[in-house]
Amino acid sequence: MPLKGKILELKKRKEEVLLGGGEQAIAKQQAMGKLTARERVIALLDEDSFNEYDLFAEHEARDFGMESKVLHGDGVIIGTGTIYGAPIAIFAQDFTVAGGSLGMMHARKITKIMDYALRMRIPLIGINDSGGARIQEGVNSLAGYGEIFFRNTLASGVVPQISVILGPCAGGAVYSPALTDFVFTVDNISKMFITGPEVIKTVLGEEISMEELGGARVHAEITGNAHFYAESEMECFEQIKKLITYIPWNNTKKARRFEPKDPKPEYNIEKIVPGDPKQPYDVRDVIRAVADDSDFFEVHEFWAANIVVGFGRINGETVGFVANQPLVLAGVLDVDSSDKAARFIRYCDAFNIPLVTLVDLPGYLPGVDQEHAGVIRHGAKVLYAFSEASVPKMTVILRKAYGGGYIAMNSRHLRADFVFAWPGAEIAVMGPEGAANIIFRKEITEAEDPEKMRRLKVKEYKQKFANPYVAASRGYIDTVIEPYETRKLLIHALEVSVNKVSDRPWKKHGIPPF
Ligand code: HXC
Repeated sequence: MPLKGKILELKKRKEEVLLGGGEQAIAKQQAMGKLTARERVIALLDEDSFNEYDLFAEHEARDFGMESKVLHGDGVIIGTGTIYGAPIAIFAQDFTVAGGSLGMMHARKITKIMDYALRMRIPLIGINDSGGARIQEGVNSLAGYGEIFFRNTLASGVVPQISVILGPCAGGAVYSPALTDFVFTVDNISKMFITGPEVIKTVLGEEISMEELGGARVHAEITGNAHFYAESEMECFEQIKKLITYIPWNNTKKARRFEPKDPKPEYNIEKIVPGDPKQPYDVRDVIRAVADDSDFFEVHEFWAANIVVGFGRINGETVGFVANQPLVLAGVLDVDSSDKAARFIRYCDAFNIPLVTLVDLPGYLPGVDQEHAGVIRHGAKVLYAFSEASVPKMTVILRKAYGGGYIAMNSRHLRADFVFAWPGAEIAVMGPEGAANIIFRKEITEAEDPEKMRRLKVKEYKQKFANPYVAASRGYIDTVIEPYETRKLLIHALEVSVNKVSDRPWKKHGIPPF
């Protein structure tokens, strides 16, 4: 056959395969409000940048009628492309082909692109939309998952790994996303759980819908499994593209620089934080006041909102912000906020992203619930993550820094490189009221007017300790600054930290309080 004929044959073969599970299955996918796997990849990547591989892959299963089944691409698309010019390796499960179920060839395609991402040191994006292990392929499917989990772990901290849940992701399949760095979800489309509603009904007799059990909101607000939540697939893709601009391609690189628009709009930063330490405010306003173009890309926005984490830029360079949020639970550290902060700190450290910590907290949350939920074990993660992090670490104490919270929030003692405090900072073992009640108990109870004496002693304690100058006199704080100087000093701190060295004893790895 002449080459022309062979080209025609290729075109015909491609056309067939590109139809995935066929028109009926595609119509079903669309009726569920979902894009097809190829539409998703094309919408996410730069125009005309996607190159697909293993288009003609075929399964080798021979049981339960599989021998006669043609599964185009074996239910998954793999390839490479770019996002804003950044190279990306990607896979997308095709639900129109056998429900995107994972058989041996399907898994081989995924592991092939994972190996590629790792070898080329480029980010990996996985779009999950699957009925889970392909039941007809038995242990081969399980082996496939195992191979994926192993590679997820191998790639962790080497290349960024992003999971997008755009359909069912059930049973053991959830563990690949759970091993990756960021999980994106979409309302009404993402469904993620270990045991589904039917099993729950059989075993526990409880009725629950898939959405209530493991929908996008559940994972964005309650479990913390999702880092991002969107109302539509297109909104989700915009979020992923934005994330890609903030992170480097691998752990040997820095994130790309994006010069700020000049000049930064005036922010009346001192007006954001009320003088009264009991008054709440939104710490994200402080972040926006110091970040380039007032742009803050929040991670885990709806979960453990008493701490705020996310990316911004300072003078063109990506930084990770970790900030107590006085608007929610007074910004305390608890089980979930400790997990959230620790994980984000480790991400930034693994990928050469300097950390900016903003402190305003009364300490760890007291209570039986927290103690029994393991606030000791979880709280220790923050100490571990900050101590371990060797990227440039800057701290600004905005207001309260009490007790264990002071130490945990990237204090000098955990090797912060720069610690700045605003003049309203209060650094003490505990709040003045609690402190005075304990250390002056005798004077207060024995006084003629105990309430008056209590007020007097609180004032005395406040004057002595509720300020930044005691810590500054010991060198625990490098300098007390006016709020408007914050951005200027952070820029300076980043400039002088470019060649930071951080010598640590050799170890295979530490044992963090997982
Ligand atoms: C083989 C599967 C499949 C699977 C779906 N299909 N899941 N084929 N193995 N796991 C096929 C269906 O037979 C159907 O084929 C097509 O995909 C579309 O599925 P529908 O059921 O028609 O779609 P829908 O009604 O939208 O329901 C989607 C679903 C449901 C909720 C995901 O299909 C489902 O419950 N699937 C089984 C889920 C499951 O139990 N998976 C195993 C989990 S255990 P046809 O030919 O009719 O179009 C697991 C262990 C992993 O994953 C452990 C790793 C460590």
